[in-house]
Amino acid sequence: MLRKKIAVIGGDGIGPEVIEEGIKVMNEAAALDGRITFDYTYFPWGCEYYLNHGRMMAEDGIEQLQHFDAIYLGAVGFPGVPDHISLWDLLLVIRKSFDQYVNLRPIKLLDGVKGPLVHGSKQNIDMLFIRENSEGEYAGAGDRLYKGSEREVALQTGVFSRTGTERIIRHAFEVARKEQKTLTSISKANALNHSMVFWDEVFEEVSADYPDVTTYSYLVDAAAMHMIMDPGRFEVVVTSNLFGDILTDVGAALAGGMGLAAGANINPERKYPSMFEPVHGSAPDIAGKGLANPLAAIWSVSQMFDFFELPDIGEKLLITMEQVLQNPKMLTPDLGGTGTTKEVGDRFTEMLAQQF
Ligand code: NAD
Ligand code: IPM
Ligand code: MN
Repeated sequence: MLRKKIAVIGGDGIGPEVIEEGIKVMNEAAALDGRITFDYTYFPWGCEYYLNHGRMMAEDGIEQLQHFDAIYLGAVGFPGVPDHISLWDLLLVIRKSFDQYVNLRPIKLLDGVKGPLVHGSKQNIDMLFIRENSEGEYAGAGDRLYKGSEREVALQTGVFSRTGTERIIRHAFEVARKEQKTLTSISKANALNHSMVFWDEVFEEVSADYPDVTTYSYLVDAAAMHMIMDPGRFEVVVTSNLFGDILTDVGAALAGGMGLAAGANINPERKYPSMFEPVHGSAPDIAGKGLANPLAAIWSVSQMFDFFELPDIGEKLLITMEQVLQNPKMLTPDLGGTGTTKEVGDRFTEMLAQQF
């Protein structure tokens, strides 16, 4: 029996609400399957913790998390704590400290979901975004000079190292090869004449090692347009940290909204724990009301089973999700239903049994 230690950081707003349902599903899937079991440790970190302790996580938080097999995170950020503090001192510090440089964000229009595109279908909305997750525009390099004066200057420097750029592109090629899919690189070399020219060069260089993988390369503005007009062009996609952030919200919209968008922050070397979290934030507008859709958080659980090398369980969760999605009335309001977060989680857990 596999026994995995999971660090749970519910975080803020709807984070703890959706995570609770994800854990319910995780436990049920593990019990039904019988090959794996989970031990959870809950960390009360987030904006409320900040207001009480003056910090987003314990001082030795990263050391405490280090020995877990995975981290399951809800969302971070709440009015009352500046977003750049709450996110940098919890979510981003985890991604960076644990070198989770691969951010996997599947964008699939599942059966039962009515996406916003009239021409959208299960066949043409089926992509995997592989977002660089450790550097680029999110390197945090910069400064504020002459603060508050008329001469004030804000600097935010993108950092694209050869190591960082090559490893994400290589990882994407490996995935595309394994899945026999095309690989699309998204950049912006016409305007970002240093960093993105470099990105394109590295993409070109690495592609020489994968002659079997068909590649495309788009400028990010055109890519945003193609995602809407002709999403079927995209299969596996590799892009920088910021472009990936923005385009995966576009992708979330294509596939039915933020309530369905899942993500995994992976350290492929498995030297450090990887982290699983929905793409959405803490949604203060609906927090505490039982309105949050837990399916994104549940999809991240499916990714966790994949990561633990039990992809058949991950697949069973996605099949169950498609079944749950068949009955719109029972879903949360973002998908047109009248169900609550807990009702969707309970129904999911009940329906899961049919897969085992
Ligand atoms: P958001 O994703 O929290 O919300 C955007 C919109 O989508 C809102 O209308 C919200 O109600 C809706 N929504 C999001 N998740 C939903 C769900 N599961 N079910 C139903 N509706 C859902 O983005 P935002 O409003 O820009 O940010 C709110 C806070 O979250 C900010 O502090 C932001 O920095 C933070 N944030 C955190 C993460 C993270 O922790 N991974 C991600 C994005 C934003
Ligand atoms: C995401 C979020 C984060 C990001 C924020 C909250 C820092 O938007 O995971 O998509 O930009 O990576
Ligand atoms: Mn985002």
